[in-house]
Amino acid sequence: MQLPISVRLGRAEHLQQQIVRQIAMLIENGLLRAGDSLPATRELSAQLGVARNTVVLSYQALRREGFVESAGRRGTRVGPTLPRAYLNARVRVSKTAAVPERPPEPTHLDQWRNSSLYDPSRNHLPLDFRVGRPDRTLFPHRIWKRLVDQRLHGAPLALTEYGDPLGLRELRSAIAEHVRVSRGILCSADQVLIVAGVQEGLNLVSRLLLQPGSSAVLENPTYASAAHVFASYGATLIGCEVGEEGINPRALPRSGARLAYVTPSHQFPLGPTMSLESRIALLEWARRTGSFIVEDDYDGDFRYQGSPLMALAALDRSERVVYLATFSKSLGAGLRLGYAIVPPSLVPKAKMVKDLFNHGHSWLEQAVLADFLRSGAFDSHLRRIRMVYLERRDYLTAGLRRRFAETHVLGGEGGMHLTWYLPRTAPPAHTLQRTLLSKGVGVYCLMDGPALMLQPFDGWDRILLLGYPCLDRVKTEQALNCIAQELDAGSAT
Ligand SMILES: Cc1ncc(COP(=O)(O)O)c(C=O)c1O
Repeated sequence: MQLPISVRLGRAEHLQQQIVRQIAMLIENGLLRAGDSLPATRELSAQLGVARNTVVLSYQALRREGFVESAGRRGTRVGPTLPRAYLNARVRVSKTAAVPERPPEPTHLDQWRNSSLYDPSRNHLPLDFRVGRPDRTLFPHRIWKRLVDQRLHGAPLALTEYGDPLGLRELRSAIAEHVRVSRGILCSADQVLIVAGVQEGLNLVSRLLLQPGSSAVLENPTYASAAHVFASYGATLIGCEVGEEGINPRALPRSGARLAYVTPSHQFPLGPTMSLESRIALLEWARRTGSFIVEDDYDGDFRYQGSPLMALAALDRSERVVYLATFSKSLGAGLRLGYAIVPPSLVPKAKMVKDLFNHGHSWLEQAVLADFLRSGAFDSHLRRIRMVYLERRDYLTAGLRRRFAETHVLGGEGGMHLTWYLPRTAPPAHTLQRTLLSKGVGVYCLMDGPALMLQPFDGWDRILLLGYPCLDRVKTEQALNCIAQELDAGSAT
């Protein structure tokens, strides 16, 4: 270990005092803590360029003053408490010391909000219908480990060199191939940019398309993170109603919007799939008004009924659509890997922006993912988890219908969560969310979590979101029992 201290010859304070004073300060500031070992005297003397004996004498002085103690053959370590004489002196000084001035806060950030998806407290919830989380026990560990080993073999240059900020070429080509077959999108690898999930993609499009005062249209309700990112770039947010076919194109503003953010495969959070007619009308709106469409295909890998409709990016003939997708749902959010596909005309500017954001992403994860896609393992993995999730979705839907009369469940054709319209006798969704949470069951209303309402709408507090991938039959049954007890208790009072 190297200590962050230095000494200079020729000072009034001699070398030994300089060392003692600086190590005592590291201990007082908590940079060195009780039990931490000090470097061996030989090491510290080499680091500071002083005689070893100077360090030996310094350690002895620190020991005498009670800062450190001998740890036998393991050398010298920080003592369990600060020396009493030192603490007394500190109390005397602190009584007279001026209150340190607080550093100025960056107030221009005050109006921003965020909706962090990081919530470790939820990781311990026994029965959690968490929205958008894959079942971690289904992660393809064995093959992933083999691919990591293969890629690491022979200390590749890519480990120590910077990579292309746009992403590893092999991965971008593999993604271009994947979306051609699965989403009908014809694009070149040049149009594909690797991003740290949709979240970075949203920042990328904002930097690319928005200026303070630009208008951004969003579905209402929508994905909270998207709204907060656009607002942080100074955009004015316009909510547009969502019907059974997704966003209602007739409710779009006639002019002036810079972009519309939509989730056509599985509207987030309510779950309808945008019909082909609405897709065509939305594209026509973008062409007519000179706006762009940001298509977030966050859970488009999961389609259980019917074939997936063509992505907006596949239908786009006017270079108006930026397509965002993620591996957070198919593999795991911990990978932080997603992609943006931009129209050819936006590629040069997108490259510029991406370069400003970061110097690329982890080479190893990108390389392994490229192999995973190209080998066909990704398709097999998707087939496998789709079957499991479909079975869980069906079990949950049947359980809800069996237990709760006049229940209405939507959004099950694809994705990873259901939208449950509560029975009439149930308490408001946000109340039910709170009481169930205290019983260890996670359900999600539209008021917090990943969903956001730009304007309240009729019936919003009768809706709960239920993510089903992580709950097998036994857990689903337990959770439904809990919910039923709560609703029975509510209707009995
Ligand atoms: C609509 C929507 N888009 C994107 C994401 C996640 O994006 P990422 O993990 O790729 O940043 C989520 C996660 O819940 C989501 O609900």
